[in-house]
Amino acid sequence: MKSLKEIIAESAIKETAVGHFNISELTALKAIFESARELNLPVIIGTSEGERKFIGLKQAVSLVKSIREEYDYPIFLNADHTHSLEKVREAAEAGYDAILFDGGKLPFEENVRQTKAAVEIAKSVNPSALIEGEIGYIGSSSEVQKKIPAGAALNPEELTSPQQAKEFIEETGVDFLAPAVGNIHGIIVQAGFTERLDIERIKSIKGASGISLVLHGGSGLDSEDFRKAIKAGINIVHISTEIRQAWRIGLEAGLKNNPEEIAPYKIYPPAIEEMKKVIIGRLRVFSNL
Ligand code: G3H
Ligand code: ZN
Repeated sequence: MKSLKEIIAESAIKETAVGHFNISELTALKAIFESARELNLPVIIGTSEGERKFIGLKQAVSLVKSIREEYDYPIFLNADHTHSLEKVREAAEAGYDAILFDGGKLPFEENVRQTKAAVEIAKSVNPSALIEGEIGYIGSSSEVQKKIPAGAALNPEELTSPQQAKEFIEETGVDFLAPAVGNIHGIIVQAGFTERLDIERIKSIKGASGISLVLHGGSGLDSEDFRKAIKAGINIVHISTEIRQAWRIGLEAGLKNNPEEIAPYKIYPPAIEEMKKVIIGRLRVFSNL
């Protein structure tokens, strides 16, 4: 089976992106795997610090690995938004395939220093682990939000510049970079605000750095922006809030339709179906299907 690194390189040639979807329990994992399999696409499962604390790090690794092995399927696990070097080590030791060290909120020099240390720690534990760094703060909550998160980078001078990206990559040795290019975590419903990506900036960052780029905060973006961003050089796209929303809608329907039912596996199917609609829709866009 191809490695995650090979899969990302291949998708870059095809001008497609690999979908990264977050989970904190089994129904989402099932929905993501079934969706990817229906379309025959590789997929990345993400767990933030909170999500993996809930599942258990080793448990998350075992779950994803068991699917990979049983189905001989390219499904990988990323330790999403890891904020300390201690947690980088923990994720690498647990067997995560990829780790995002998120120093996006730190001053640039400090972000470089800590990300470099994160790369060294993770690679010393597992040389084939892929490490992602982040420049610029894009909010931190995968929720529906009434306001743009305080401090989020949206003005051109706050977004990631190609020069910063180049310097960051040269100094840290990361495998992937998550830039701030107009993307915000969560779905923002603030009046008058529409989340739009700076496509020209993505192109320049790609041109200056040549590295694989990761787009965070995918929920709420329109398909056209995704297509353009992927053509401009995005290789991985993260979606979480939209899955959480779909899970809740489906779960409520499952409970409402079965008011007396107490067997979880008889209540969950509408939640899985709702999540699959979102995931399949997004995967089609990411893969030009
Ligand atoms: O790392 C997680 C993603 O960036 C999720 O962003 O909740 O806006 O889809 P989202
Ligand atoms: Zn993210």
